[in-house]
Amino acid sequence: MSVVSTPALHVGENISRLIPYQPGKPIEEVKRELGLTEVTKLASNENPLGPSPKAVQAMRDVAEKVYLYPDGACYELRQAVASHLNLPEDHLIFGNGSDEIIHYLGVTYLQPGDEVIQADPSFVRYEAAAILNDAPCIKVPLKHWTHDLEAMADQITERTRLIFIANPNNPTGTIVTHREVETLLNRLPARVLLALDEAYFEYVENPDYPRGVEFVQEGRNVILLRTFSKAYGLAGLRLGYGIARPEIVGHLDQVREPFNVNLIAQAAGVAAIADQEHVERSRQVNAAGKRMLYGAFEALGMEYAPTEGNFIWVDVGRNSREVFNALLKRGVIVRTGDIFGAPTHLRVTIGTQSQNETFLNALEEVLKQ
Ligand SMILES: Cc1ncc(COP(=O)(O)O)c(C=O)c1O
Repeated sequence: MSVVSTPALHVGENISRLIPYQPGKPIEEVKRELGLTEVTKLASNENPLGPSPKAVQAMRDVAEKVYLYPDGACYELRQAVASHLNLPEDHLIFGNGSDEIIHYLGVTYLQPGDEVIQADPSFVRYEAAAILNDAPCIKVPLKHWTHDLEAMADQITERTRLIFIANPNNPTGTIVTHREVETLLNRLPARVLLALDEAYFEYVENPDYPRGVEFVQEGRNVILLRTFSKAYGLAGLRLGYGIARPEIVGHLDQVREPFNVNLIAQAAGVAAIADQEHVERSRQVNAAGKRMLYGAFEALGMEYAPTEGNFIWVDVGRNSREVFNALLKRGVIVRTGDIFGAPTHLRVTIGTQSQNETFLNALEEVLKQ
């Protein structure tokens, strides 16, 4: 057999710096690895109630149509979301998850050497979008686990093109207010676009939360990112959207893949947004779970950041990777803080009452060890 010498393949220096995304551990993997039958996953901020039954029915109804390409323009979904938001249809861009819109923002607006500003720690996909496009990502430390918008604004240079704010922030759950964002927007040079990532929008209770749509209607350089993955319970489907003025939507549409949102996702999205009762139930379960976990953390003497999302950032006061592993053995999956530079923190998704109880019982056992 002749030996073929394989020429070495090269990737760009920026590509070699990209770290593949580390998702929360899947339930089936934990069952396999630890021989467990019952596993509670509170690791990826999914909706413990699942999707609206109406969305599930809509997916069944279109399943046989998947031999057809989906509507690349997402006509019906666009109508449904536009009417829900009371905005014109040309203010929306849809993505295979809001992750895809973050990716499009990088590809669309960044040239090598341009700069991105984000908080630290915050959602990891912003930096990935920067690295992919050879753009330095300036990370500004959180203050009291909250975005420090003044310090972020101080980092704006001639090369700044994009600023990402996760609001509520992942992993800490904290928010910045309407007035704070408005002050930042007033400081932005015309060449800078602000991406306000509102993945947890539906869970927010604080009345000072930004009315982001007003910023869009004022014609500001802002895009809001929303998703069906969290309160709508459709994370496995991959459906998110951006809200911005038509000029920005048009730029993103130029780089969008032709059929980026699949046919089943479009049908489910239409049914899901029509079922606001399901969203309301999800909000109530989350609010009750938040109070339950706050109470338990206080009883345990643990500090937590006040959350506006469906997860809590809590300081367990000891090595959180050890706590994570001990919880895993008891069938509970959470996220450790060390990946976010906080070695004694956990990020735990708020579950149903029984999931929260399972988590708290396991945590108390672990802490006694
Ligand atoms: C702040 C934030 N933005 C975006 C996303 C991505 O959501 P999607 O499932 O819509 O891609 C997440 C997911 O965890 C998130 O926490």
